[in-house]
Amino acid sequence: MESFVQLRKGTTPRHVHRDLDGLKDDELGRMGFVGRQAQLYRRNDPTKFRAEGALRPSHFKADKLTPTDHTDPRGTPLPLYSNDDVRFLLSRRAEPMPFFVRNVGGDELVFVHRGTGEFETEFGRVPYEPGDWVLLPKGVTYRQVPSDAENTFFIIEAADEFRTPPAGILGRHFPFDPSVVFIPEPEVLTDGGPEWEIRVINRDLQGSIFYGHNPCDVEGWKGDYFPFKVNIRDYNAILSEGVHLPPTVSTLMTASGVVVLNFLPRPAESRPGVERLPWYHRNADYDEVAFFHGGTLLGFPMVPGLITHAPQGLHHGPPEELRELSRAQFGEFDRLEWVTISVDVRRPLTVNPELGGVK
Ligand SMILES: [Fe+2]
Repeated sequence: MESFVQLRKGTTPRHVHRDLDGLKDDELGRMGFVGRQAQLYRRNDPTKFRAEGALRPSHFKADKLTPTDHTDPRGTPLPLYSNDDVRFLLSRRAEPMPFFVRNVGGDELVFVHRGTGEFETEFGRVPYEPGDWVLLPKGVTYRQVPSDAENTFFIIEAADEFRTPPAGILGRHFPFDPSVVFIPEPEVLTDGGPEWEIRVINRDLQGSIFYGHNPCDVEGWKGDYFPFKVNIRDYNAILSEGVHLPPTVSTLMTASGVVVLNFLPRPAESRPGVERLPWYHRNADYDEVAFFHGGTLLGFPMVPGLITHAPQGLHHGPPEELRELSRAQFGEFDRLEWVTISVDVRRPLTVNPELGGVK
């Protein structure tokens, strides 16, 4: 049972995530980072393990994967990981869709890693650029029209509705000022034809319906269900100078069994002795998927387009060498310049076997 009073046994720092004095700070917790938890102060780096079997970490480089939409305008994104609540897909669409899509498998939250263009939707056009989060709600009809040939999109498809976190103690302008969101204006489109295809997709089920007119024929709309986008530069990062806060303060949106977080540039923790990098942990209740957009960490470039998966129960965290560097160069860096998307999911994920097995 949760308690305001927490036990302390053996040798521990006085304050959590500070003054480790050579110990390795390892968190074991429930419900992601908001349930009961314990810090275990170890002698050794818990990420130094060798794994066998199905439950192993994996990683891929986006530019080494080739979704069929990269080479074929009629192609599709590549599924990466899935469970009953969520699918992760990679798109590298190079040319405009010669069809519309209506995804009834769930909301699509599209992170634009590379490329510009627009989504033509029934609600109007949604232009995009790198760093955009584009939400295409379940059942909305849209067509993607890239402006560039080189594009990378990380797609999170949730069966449940994506919602911004409740205002709570952080108020109405977290995670972003709602008035900066781009919402499309209605526009009647007539190009294309003589027949317009809509691919109706529900996970692995797919069919097409055809119209004799462009389905983006809406003269006006009203309501509270619509596509929109927000850029990561408008995200309001939260920090404390005295302690590295848990990933939940980087929440962007949630759906049932899915928490989408973005770790974005911000001032570094400044109190002497504080650990600036995320502590070691094994997430007891969530698988974790990360997509590296770019940025730097202590001057080292993050690998753009790196996709990682940490199954629940397996330790992960920045390497000890980087932690030691962070302590040694405490006075030389006053910002964390990372740009990483992270998604925690409640049910275990299955890796698409077409990717060649767990790496
Ligand atoms: Fe994690």
